[in-house]
Amino acid sequence: MSTPSTSIESTLVENRVFEPTEATVKAARISGMDAYNALCAEAEDDFEGFWVRRARETLTWHKPFTKTLDESNAPFFKWFEDGELNASYNCLDRHMGTPVENKTAIIFEADGGEVTKVTYKELLGKVSQFANALKARGVKKGDRVVIYMPMTIEGVVAMQACARIGATHSVVFGGFSAKALQERIQDAGAVAVITANYQLRGGKELPLKAIVDEGIAMGGCECIKDVIVFQRTPTAVNMVAGRDSFMHDVMAGQSTDCPAEMVGAEHPLFVLYTSGSTGKPKGVQHSTGGYLLWASLTMQWTFDLQDKDIFWCTADIGWITGHTYVAYGPLAAGATQIVFEGVPTYPNAGRFWQMIERHKCTIFYTAPTAIRSLIKAAEGDEKVHPARSDLSSLRILGSVGEPINPEAWMWYYKHVGGERCPIVDTFWQTETGGHMISPLPGATPLVPGSCTLPLPGITAAIVDEAGMDVPNGSGGILVVKRPWPSMIRTIWGDPERFKKSYFPEELKGYYLAGDGAVRSADRGYFRITGRIDDVLNVSGHRMGTMEIESALVGKTDLVAEAAVVGRPDDLTGEAIVAFVVLKRSRPTGDEAKAIAKVLRDWVGKEIGPIAKPKDIRFGDNLPKTRSGKIMRRLLRSIAKGEAITQDTSTLENPAILDQLSENN
Ligand code: WTA
Repeated sequence: MSTPSTSIESTLVENRVFEPTEATVKAARISGMDAYNALCAEAEDDFEGFWVRRARETLTWHKPFTKTLDESNAPFFKWFEDGELNASYNCLDRHMGTPVENKTAIIFEADGGEVTKVTYKELLGKVSQFANALKARGVKKGDRVVIYMPMTIEGVVAMQACARIGATHSVVFGGFSAKALQERIQDAGAVAVITANYQLRGGKELPLKAIVDEGIAMGGCECIKDVIVFQRTPTAVNMVAGRDSFMHDVMAGQSTDCPAEMVGAEHPLFVLYTSGSTGKPKGVQHSTGGYLLWASLTMQWTFDLQDKDIFWCTADIGWITGHTYVAYGPLAAGATQIVFEGVPTYPNAGRFWQMIERHKCTIFYTAPTAIRSLIKAAEGDEKVHPARSDLSSLRILGSVGEPINPEAWMWYYKHVGGERCPIVDTFWQTETGGHMISPLPGATPLVPGSCTLPLPGITAAIVDEAGMDVPNGSGGILVVKRPWPSMIRTIWGDPERFKKSYFPEELKGYYLAGDGAVRSADRGYFRITGRIDDVLNVSGHRMGTMEIESALVGKTDLVAEAAVVGRPDDLTGEAIVAFVVLKRSRPTGDEAKAIAKVLRDWVGKEIGPIAKPKDIRFGDNLPKTRSGKIMRRLLRSIAKGEAITQDTSTLENPAILDQLSENN
């Protein structure tokens, strides 16, 4: 990349532009803006033909499809419906007999630093053995399997083995609580849970199996016939006779050959729960064919994947990024990837940089939150500064999960990428399956803080509340006008909620992303301005304010009422602030602190530590309109510490604002 064409430091109007170097353009799969524009034009001229060609080139079909897009039951779109394939076959078997067969598929680095490598052939053997073990226990095509595992080779094996036999997996992030796990098991109607005895993070052994036991004991999980436990550490755990078994035991003696079960392209590969603006988490259902196509193709497009690349996506398999860019995309594309068990700050905050050097990582993909916390650490201690590691292997950097502020972008660009590596700021969502708006490293001029332009075939646009396009420079609602192969198919068990959440009538059948965005006046580049619903983004994790509110009011002996809002946070992007009315008088001082701790721990138990409010304020009441509606915009101002400038004339109880503004 060349030096910026202007050097204005202002972050309000961002006009630094970083053009890809000639060498980068020349070597790239999508080489230069002309190539990008040609692909976009191809998709525009012949939308279905564009996708047909990509699907045929990218995937191996057991039975070729003859239909492309079925819009007859919109918004329940179908892609490549009469085609048959298997996702695991496309990630593993397909590479046998090619040079990829003996290539390293996964370089696993454990929390403590031990490194284990598996080739594609070895991984196929393990996946097949475990798939046979699942079959032997009666798990079959169409069943749901919950996976509650740490970042390990075995976590990927579990997902691939489910895909291999046509079972739909639902991975639950290892940081979710027993209650959250129980709700997901129940909602999915899972027949088995695959877990580990413990997980290792930052040198600590944290329980997983005990949480599974606790979740199942909460009731309503009679659907579970099997709990399979990967023995991650030597520590013993309680095993329930007749229900629980160890992964190594069930795999012992199983054949390393397990023919992949072919499924229809629309067969649900997985259900992944995510937070919405209302009610309980929704099970986002993804397909097999369309999903895998985009997982594989975006590896080639966004990351410009080449044979020799060492790819590293730091996301956990419990999130969509870990599905698409750890468990499926890199394998389908035949990449060598790094899988990391631990945390970026252990044994010190230079861990990521040291690992990039150790494994000669070439493509590094992480979240702005991680970057911001590592900036802070590096500024405080030069021993963990990226300059201490040899990062010359890097050629492409990526960012995902939340808007990246231009300051963090510049630091990442300069100190990690050596002003040489393009940064792909990828905007996408659990529901979109893969990248939607992102620069292409060998084509798109970069602007810090902007995810730039939609990928070819993705009809992203910004509209007003009536679905009309807004001009560049004015903000609006981010939509996608036409379906795309890896889109969400439905919400598991709740098609009505799917329709209402993503295809509201006033938006002309466009997909509603739930984010606000603005396109720059000059280049038409997209910049995401944040969620327009009641969803918060804390350290790149999606949290529904309603979910946290219902957890708080679930503490029935203490809490009468609660309202949760977000406030900007330098490190975590957004922070959770809860306003709480207790069933007793309003506490102050140490007592308020003690009750706040009780409530924080309670939310941790109900949802998971990531949902704990950073700040809890107590009031005698909440600001409400005369009709009893909580005025959240006032709470948002109070949470930010702003003076209230909004109209408060409709407020029933204006005095409450002062009380809530007090720091207690
Ligand atoms: C936000 C994560 C700005 C956005 C892949 C979206 C982003 C939500 C970006 C989805 C980005 C994700 N720039 N905002 N590059 N990427 N977001 O489902 O608000 O966990 O709606 O998927 O994260 O979060 P999710």
